[in-house]
Amino acid sequence: MNKVSNILNKIQNKTAEEILQLVAQLPSESVVFSTSLGYEDQVITHMIFSKSLNISVFTLDTGRLFPETYSVFNSTLERYKKTILTFSPNTQLVEDMVTKKGPFSFYENVDNRKECCFVRKVEPLKRALKGHTIWITGIRADQSGNRNDMPMVEWDDANKIIKIHPLLNWTIEEVKGFIFKHNIPYNPLHDKGFVSIGCQPCTRAIKEGEDFRAGRWWWEDASKKECGLHK
Ligand code: ADX
Ligand code: SF4
Repeated sequence: MNKVSNILNKIQNKTAEEILQLVAQLPSESVVFSTSLGYEDQVITHMIFSKSLNISVFTLDTGRLFPETYSVFNSTLERYKKTILTFSPNTQLVEDMVTKKGPFSFYENVDNRKECCFVRKVEPLKRALKGHTIWITGIRADQSGNRNDMPMVEWDDANKIIKIHPLLNWTIEEVKGFIFKHNIPYNPLHDKGFVSIGCQPCTRAIKEGEDFRAGRWWWEDASKKECGLHK
């Protein structure tokens, strides 16, 4: 992928802010950022909104998020007075799944869990990415074993889009430092042991020393813990 290595070259030794500014100005690219409203994503949202960068911001509202996540969603709208495009699951797909399997099918087996993640996240993601050429995420390398060796710029073949992770090399301390320095609204669950926050029924707080993603789909094998947004 020539374009990928081209972008990689351009962003060598640049800060996350510089990367976002640079990418936003690339001619003939259409750039989107996906926010789950977690710590990392709030950092990127601040960088985009405070400089009015030409990057549109979207969230996937699975319908099963924590009340705290909706609160930080709202405080972010109030703080920046910008738009966060919201993608909800396809009504028919949710109705069919819940009618057939009930509201907690995801606890029963991995297939049901993946079906729910597909309906509530992956299918809406495909609509959100449609027509765009670059997708920014808040992924950091030390969030999980399989994110350790991710490149900062990659080709996502499933979604046919270039993916960029500007905070890839940030530590959690740097993320928190940035949040506090700029007084950015953040999810209060982060102060209660929740590090990686997804849907309410599938996320719990972690204990001291536990893996970052131990609180996500905690009843499953570590090897299965991705929801399909990021392969
Ligand atoms: S997940 O694959 O386990 O759900 P994670 O919570 O680590 O992902 O978040 C990684 C990145 O995926 C975030 O920085 C964000 O870019 C994107 N993301 C995750 N969940 C959502 C969501 N609900 N809406 C939009 N983007 C999301
Ligand atoms: Fe469904 Fe849980 Fe996946 Fe959310 S995280 S989409 S509730 S299985």
